[in-house]
Amino acid sequence: MCGIFGLITNKKELPIAKLIREGLERLEYRGYDSAGIAIVNKGKIELRKNAGRIADINKEGWFDAMEGDFGMGHTRWATHGPPNAQNSHPHLDGADKIAVVHNGILENFMELREELITRGHSFKSDTDTEVFPVLIKEFLDSGMALKEAVVATINKCKGAYGIVVCHADTPDTMIVARKESPLTIGITPGETTYCASDIPAFLPLTRMAYILDDDEIAVLNPGKVAIFDVIKGNKIEREPITVEWSIDAAAKVLDGKEYKWFMHKELHEVPRKVREQVNVPQENIDDFVKTILDAEHVYITAAGTAFYACLAGKFQMTRFGGPFMTPIECSEFKDHLPKMPKNSCVITVSQSGETADTIEAVRYAREKFGAKICSVVNVVGSSLTRYSDHVLITTAGPEIAVASQKAYCTQVTALSVVALRIAEIQGKMSQEEIDKYREALIATADVGDVILKREDAIKAVAQIISKKINFFFLGRGLSMAAAYEGALKLKEISYNHAEAYPAGESKHGPIALINEGYPVVFVAPPDETYDRLIGNIMEMKSRGATIISVVADFDERVTEISDYTLRVPIENNKYAIAMSIVPFTFPLQIMAYFASDHNGLDPDKPRNLAKSVTVK
Ligand code: F6R
Repeated sequence: MCGIFGLITNKKELPIAKLIREGLERLEYRGYDSAGIAIVNKGKIELRKNAGRIADINKEGWFDAMEGDFGMGHTRWATHGPPNAQNSHPHLDGADKIAVVHNGILENFMELREELITRGHSFKSDTDTEVFPVLIKEFLDSGMALKEAVVATINKCKGAYGIVVCHADTPDTMIVARKESPLTIGITPGETTYCASDIPAFLPLTRMAYILDDDEIAVLNPGKVAIFDVIKGNKIEREPITVEWSIDAAAKVLDGKEYKWFMHKELHEVPRKVREQVNVPQENIDDFVKTILDAEHVYITAAGTAFYACLAGKFQMTRFGGPFMTPIECSEFKDHLPKMPKNSCVITVSQSGETADTIEAVRYAREKFGAKICSVVNVVGSSLTRYSDHVLITTAGPEIAVASQKAYCTQVTALSVVALRIAEIQGKMSQEEIDKYREALIATADVGDVILKREDAIKAVAQIISKKINFFFLGRGLSMAAAYEGALKLKEISYNHAEAYPAGESKHGPIALINEGYPVVFVAPPDETYDRLIGNIMEMKSRGATIISVVADFDERVTEISDYTLRVPIENNKYAIAMSIVPFTFPLQIMAYFASDHNGLDPDKPRNLAKSVTVK
């Protein structure tokens, strides 16, 4: 959580403050409780920060008017202390010479703060971050140079951090360091160096990047980067990477059309991203698959939407001959598994590759029990990729809307590709059959295109139901992955209370809530669950529920007993039906988007959420 952006350049004509502010806006999905910028100007630090969103704070050009040589900014998702101006970053030392922005959580900050107070320092904020500049000042006062003072400071800190430091008296130098919180560096050699929480923040400015690893520190000068190992102290030689992602990701424009929200634009990217996912040559898919097949115990873990992608993937991998897998939410992983058996494999899924709970689960399994880690990750070079034995990269590209949608669709597609490769390696199904399933998987992208062409029909249903307070989302088997995802999407971006339940389970309690007009959404593909699901629909209908169903285009029976339907144009054959989990989830994501927009909300930045949850 929290977005960091810094810039240092010898092109003095550049509008430094405006570029930092724009960089922060591209990171606002990471947190939008408050924002601030510090700029070094002729040996002084100018600091502006306040609660609220960047656009509101900068309404009169308050940030853009700042002048100076180089600087940094921060957009906050509050952890320690309420989101007010005082707690906003950057934070300064007592002498206003050192500025620091921080993403992460310091676990021992209370201890450090008390120590510093007994030594005569005072603090202006409630944050954990403020101990950084104060400690750095102490080390500088003891005679250390800036880099050494930052190293000495982080050596005293326990917890997670991505930090940027600058000093008013150290011209043209910024220091960045990271441990368990992301930090990337962009560079236009010889001219400008950027640092940011993630790559898309500087994509419109450069495509050349370095990714900092845990326990590394870098000294940034204009157009120059020097990286050092904090533990060993040596300089690290690292080549920059060239980022292929399109910069269009940073604009709400797709195929020349301007969208009102990133979420809507990104939903319109789903079919092409799914198509890319099926066709992308994944060099190490066989190693990924063999690791799963060779393990004696397989676990699958992730957070939120990514966990629901796991549920779909688990179902498909097992259906196509893979082993039984235990799904555990990553925040529960350690607590559920005080011990792990030998020869375990953990499959994990993440858009950001930085979710703290996911990283914790993976490191726990790998470092304590020697488990092999197979990850499906969207962000190349993210922390998760470094803790994994095998990585499949998803093709979603940068996802700006906080709520995941194209990431979910590509994750499920990637795991479906794995499932089909499992079938091939196991050799229990004929190649002809497998090819038909693969064709059906490819066709899901075309189904997505048709769903989007008919999105007005989904919008009409969304507008009718958007004011309802409570919802159930029910399904059976594989469809549960869609029910969970549909309910999560509706609650997080439209703030309707929505709960997903296995349809059969709903009569063991939840049905007590049903009265006239209570909306119940059924995910009703024409698969092996269909007849029993109809029974569950009837139970709800006879108690007055309003029935909204996701059905195949050719469906008749569920259509007849539903008040509203979201229709999925799949073919009527066993291959298309088996591979239809993305097509049956997609209309629910679209419905949630339209409900949010209809309710006058901001679907891109839902209340209290951040895209990359880098705290445990
Ligand atoms: C919901 C959503 C979250 C994320 C979760 C995991 O729409 O986006 O539930 O899926 O925070 O994030 P990643 O995939 O980055 O690990």
